[in-house]
Amino acid sequence: MAGCRSLPPSKPASEWTAEEARGAQVYQAKCARCHYPTNTSSLHGPGLQALTKLKAMPSGAPPTDERLTVVTLRGRGMMPATPLDDAQMSDLLAYLHTL
Ligand code: HEC
Repeated sequence: MAGCRSLPPSKPASEWTAEEARGAQVYQAKCARCHYPTNTSSLHGPGLQALTKLKAMPSGAPPTDERLTVVTLRGRGMMPATPLDDAQMSDLLAYLHTL
């Protein structure tokens, strides 16, 4: 079962850089209502723990920054597009790499 695999640990909040901390705020505001950051169980969308350390995302696409940017800004299937400016997007990517 996907939720039972052991995943590489997330970087603790106490060690976040300023950029990662800002990205966590973007995540709380825009993503947390649909995605758990600390496991891979489904909320409205898949849990995103270890997202960028996996070979492939649930869709099968590799979790590159380019792909994550496209999914975020344009949406995908049941996921709505989330408009972010360049600074918010790069902060969010930094945070997603800590998961
Ligand atoms: C309204 C709920 C909702 C919100 C808000 C939302 N998502 Fe999603 N997300 C989903 C759903 C549903 C899917 C599954 C889409 C599919 O594959 O059809 C998904 C899929 C994904 C995927 C997997 C893509 C893949 O290729 O498998 C990623 C990564 C993701 N979301 C990141 C984010 C991020 C980052 C944010 C915040 C900017 C966000 N989501 C906001 C519902 C949401």
